[in-house]
Amino acid sequence: MSKDVIAVTGVTGQLGGRIARRLAGAGTGPRLVVRDPARAPRLPGAEPVVAGYGDAAALATALRGVDTLLLVSASEAADRVSLHTGTVDAAVAAGMSRIVYISFLGAAPDATFTFARDHWHTEEHIRGTGAAFTFLRDSIYLDMLPQFVGRDGVIRGPAGDGCVGAVAHDDIADVAAAVLLGDGHDGRTYDVTGPRAITLAEAAEEIGRAAGRPVTYHAETLAEAYASRSGYGAPDWVVAGWVTTYAAIATGELDAVTDTVEAVAGHRPMNLAEFLAANPDRLAHLR
Ligand SMILES: NC(=O)c1ccc[n+]([C@@H]2O[C@H](COP(=O)([O-])OP(=O)(O)OC[C@H]3O[C@@H](n4cnc5c(N)ncnc54)[C@H](OP(=O)(O)O)[C@@H]3O)[C@@H](O)[C@H]2O)c1
Repeated sequence: MSKDVIAVTGVTGQLGGRIARRLAGAGTGPRLVVRDPARAPRLPGAEPVVAGYGDAAALATALRGVDTLLLVSASEAADRVSLHTGTVDAAVAAGMSRIVYISFLGAAPDATFTFARDHWHTEEHIRGTGAAFTFLRDSIYLDMLPQFVGRDGVIRGPAGDGCVGAVAHDDIADVAAAVLLGDGHDGRTYDVTGPRAITLAEAAEEIGRAAGRPVTYHAETLAEAYASRSGYGAPDWVVAGWVTTYAAIATGELDAVTDTVEAVAGHRPMNLAEFLAANPDRLAHLR
């Protein structure tokens, strides 16, 4: 069991909150890095500290004495890479020696999914610091698939007949906690996926079964996808991120199934049917 002082970011969110709870449950009260202390989860032995990503002065204080940083990637932002690299640099300056970074499957400088490029640049920066690292390259969150369905019961996106091995927040959090509390993970890059890669047509069918109403998939062309999302008033880089989430499924870049959850966390990852049975609230917008 690790005796490291572990700091976790993103703890007011889905993934970071789950990771912090697992660490606290294991008796390793983590340091909770938050922007708003009033929203920090209340966990035994855990101490909230206030700092936003890239805020060098606040991070210098918040991360003093930290051995390991679990860095949840920031919400999508035009300057997300610099938010990440600024946070990493501040952590190294504060004495951190190990970082576990929540990355994305297929992170590459030319990844089809434009937001995955940020993850590659962040990984490269972390490598350059010389700190020990583990990268958790997560597939699309299983938790998000029901949100792909419009109120009309249709998933619309340019994913073609491609497959995705989506993975649940809970399974990723189990992997992250095992990495943080265990040994032998330094220098490793893990692709973290669910148990099976499925098409969006199969996902629609499964979601429809759980919701008790027909759900279908309409494979848009890229041009249709950009046009259908152009009216939301979002900047071009945001729309590109939305559209390329699906386009990366079409190219096969997300068609991966690994044994990471089983090998690192010691249990089988959840599939979509199991996830929906355990989280019926995710279907509320379809009822
Ligand atoms: N694999 C996928 O399918 C997928 C899908 C969507 C997003 N993601 C990425 O995975 C990350 C974690 O997912 P999640 O579901 O846990 O997201 P979430 O519930 O939205 O949580 C994001 C967390 O990151 C914190 N955060 C975001 N930007 C920050 C900043 N600039 N400075 C400090 N804290 C910041 C948020 O803090 P506040 O509460 O203060 O905002 C929140 O605690 C996301 O942030 C995103 O980068 C992956």
